[in-house]
Amino acid sequence: MKRIGLIGFGTVGSGVYERLNQSKEEIHQVLGEKVEVAAILVKDRQKKRTVHVDALVTTNWEQFLEAGPYDLVFEAIGGIEPALTYTKYWLEKGIPVITANKKLVAEKGEYLEKAAQVNSTYYGYEAAVAGGIPIINALKGTLATTAISRVSGILNGTTNYMLTEMIEKNRSFADVLIEAQQLGYAEADPTDDLEGYDAWYKIRILSRLCFGYWPQAEDFSKKGVSAMMDWHVEVGERIGFKIKLIAEAWLGDKNVAGRVSPAFLTQTEPLTSVRGVTNGISLEGNSINQLLFIGPGAGKEATANSMVEDLIFHERTKNFKKAEGRNASYGNETFTHSFVFLTHEQRDQALQWVKDHQISVLDTFSHHEGEVGSLNIQRSRLLNRIRFMEMFPRENARKRLIQRNSGRSDFSFL
Ligand SMILES: NC(=O)c1ccc[n+]([C@@H]2O[C@H](COP(=O)([O-])OP(=O)(O)OC[C@H]3O[C@@H](n4cnc5c(N)ncnc54)[C@H](OP(=O)(O)O)[C@@H]3O)[C@@H](O)[C@H]2O)c1
Repeated sequence: MKRIGLIGFGTVGSGVYERLNQSKEEIHQVLGEKVEVAAILVKDRQKKRTVHVDALVTTNWEQFLEAGPYDLVFEAIGGIEPALTYTKYWLEKGIPVITANKKLVAEKGEYLEKAAQVNSTYYGYEAAVAGGIPIINALKGTLATTAISRVSGILNGTTNYMLTEMIEKNRSFADVLIEAQQLGYAEADPTDDLEGYDAWYKIRILSRLCFGYWPQAEDFSKKGVSAMMDWHVEVGERIGFKIKLIAEAWLGDKNVAGRVSPAFLTQTEPLTSVRGVTNGISLEGNSINQLLFIGPGAGKEATANSMVEDLIFHERTKNFKKAEGRNASYGNETFTHSFVFLTHEQRDQALQWVKDHQISVLDTFSHHEGEVGSLNIQRSRLLNRIRFMEMFPRENARKRLIQRNSGRSDFSFL
């Protein structure tokens, strides 16, 4: 009998409990032994629980410890503390921990993975990125030695839902945000989604798997949908692009870098078809060309499913040596193609800036609220010299500049 400790019993924790119960027979068959949740640690003693529980439910850490020993612990509370202290405690005892906590994995994953390694155990975080999509263990398993040059994705379902509604139903940002909160897609405090933090944590975790080491947070820039105006969506539609919040990372000259930013996608870009709360991830590399993963990015059942499959994955692969680091491939990045949104008052300043930096303007599009310039920028001359406009290197940008109607373009604000 495998004894499980469950920390957190909210959306995800209760989902894990239900999934373990529903799949008892299958898990028994696959693992050759039964699993049982021995105890659950929660925060609020008074809270009414809708899921019926046979295990001990406690708010007391000592009592939770006494209900052990555990063969494996699921952490589903979120945030840094006390999740970090609890995770560290179990890993140092050699007990595997499986989590859905993207913030903890992105910020402390390097440290916790090392703690797991030193103590010959496992820190599993399949559910921390794109909830229901089995991307993490695909990268660790069947793609373990596949060279990847770029990973990009729509990793935040809340903002993708909002952008889809704005584009398809011509609705305002403020109106869609209220609805997303009512539907339970957005938190009462939606900062993590709207400011891009959520996607920023996830792309840093994906980078670790794609390029073999934990990247520096400062090498990943972040701009959320809160930086957008309703008319940006309108103009995007008029010129045939869809705005998506794109998180991406690539292997640059010296290190891994990445960003989260709203971006314009053409109709032919595969991620364009990822609508609503769905997530999508694209992996690019010489031998795979492009691999796409599309599916639910959150939700009780999908996330719990990933956590339980993470347990199975660990049990089935724990005796195999897992490769550290990986064979990564480099992209060639020289040009970037950016769209710059400016108000009418900023026009003169923008024209001067374009002249000063010898940037070619490919097109301009007018709107009564402002103007959009489509620009061709050579990265090597300008990188690190621009203060008020953000620019990003773009793989295959040269090709995309010629074939203007395919690929994706950056989205910038003056
Ligand atoms: N919801 C999703 O669809 C989803 C998808 C992917 C990943 N995740 C991640 O999964 C994690 C959990 O999310 P959730 O949506 O399940 O959150 P949630 O519904 O708010 O549940 C959090 C649970 O943690 C417990 N908890 C909080 N602080 C605690 C503490 N100090 N000690 C013990 N227990 C504590 C709470 O106890 P009480 O019940 O007593 O309040 C609650 O049971 C987060 O890291 C989140 O980012 C969520």
